[in-house]
This record gives sequence, C-alpha cells and structure tokens, in this order.
Amino acid sequence: MKENQNISIQYTSYSHYSELDKAEQELLEKAVELSADAYAPYSEFNVGAAVLLKNGKIVAGSNQENAAYPSGLCAERVALFSASANHRNEVMQTIAIYAASETTAQKQISPCGSCRQVMVEYEVKQYSNLKVLLMNSSKEVWEFNSCKDLLPLAFDATALKKQ
Ligand code: THU
Repeated sequence: MKENQNISIQYTSYSHYSELDKAEQELLEKAVELSADAYAPYSEFNVGAAVLLKNGKIVAGSNQENAAYPSGLCAERVALFSASANHRNEVMQTIAIYAASETTAQKQISPCGSCRQVMVEYEVKQYSNLKVLLMNSSKEVWEFNSCKDLLPLAFDATALKKQ
C-alpha cells in the first residue's frame, strides 16, 4: 500500500542571541571566540564549536583543514571527539556552533551531515538530549532541543549490534 509520509521537526529561532539565557549566551560567545582558532586557509570559512558538559566544563572545537583536503575536520567533530576522548562518560548537554563567514550573515549556518550523524550517536549513547544552538554573524540563533531534529531517519548504531 502506498502512503505519503511527512516528517516535521521542532526548533526555535531568536532574532538575537541576547534573548537566550545567560549560560547559553556565554556558550555562544565562546563559540565565536573559538572560531578565531580555526585553521581554514583553503575555505576561509571559520567555524567555532563549544560543547557544554553536565559538569559545567566547556570543550573547544574549531575547523582544522589540511592540504590533503579530506584529512581536515569540522569544528563540531573536533569538539565532540575531544569531549568524548577527554571526558569519557560526561553527558554533553549543548553544542553551540558559530560560523564567522560573511556569506552567512543573512542566513543560518548548518552543520554538515557527517557532524549531525556524530552528534546523534553521542545523544543515543548518553540517553540524554544534546541541544544544538546555531548562530550566524548577525547573531541570529536557531535552537534544536535534540540533535535528532537535525537528522530525521538517522542511521542508528544499535542496528549494528547483534540481537
Ligand atoms: N565546516 C565546519 O567546521 N562546520 C560546519 O558546520 C560546516 C563546515 C568547515 C569544514 C571546512 O573546514 C569549512 O568549514 C568549509 O567547508
């Protein structure tokens, strides 16, 4: 039987980051700061990512490129892998992402598919939502309470596990 399906996702938009609570504003400011640490001589697209852990620590990420292009890594995965490697079982509560490129000034930034897949896997692993805050150079913010909203129908690692 053929049935058309529809998926809807939830998110909140803010015209300026000052509308968020203080802790989230600070996390977004940290992401802005971190974008200055990007090594992006090829794309000149600087991205900062700050992961807030349940214990209050903030883990830093920025995109790191390489002349052998596929060897580089997005800011989000630098931060997420660092959080997992250095704070193994600490819940990741929020990831704030900022892109400094002038071209994003009027529109939202958007994490790539690979970063979304990595976010979703940590969220599944920790049985707790990973909130995503995206901010552009105009300081507009999009808030997703779960990273799963950014990746409907995500591939689920539990599919790999033997029953
Ligand atoms: N990039 C990120 O770091 N995060 C994103 O959300 C999108 C893209 C990086 C990868 C590469 O260094 C540059 O931006 C251009 O794609």
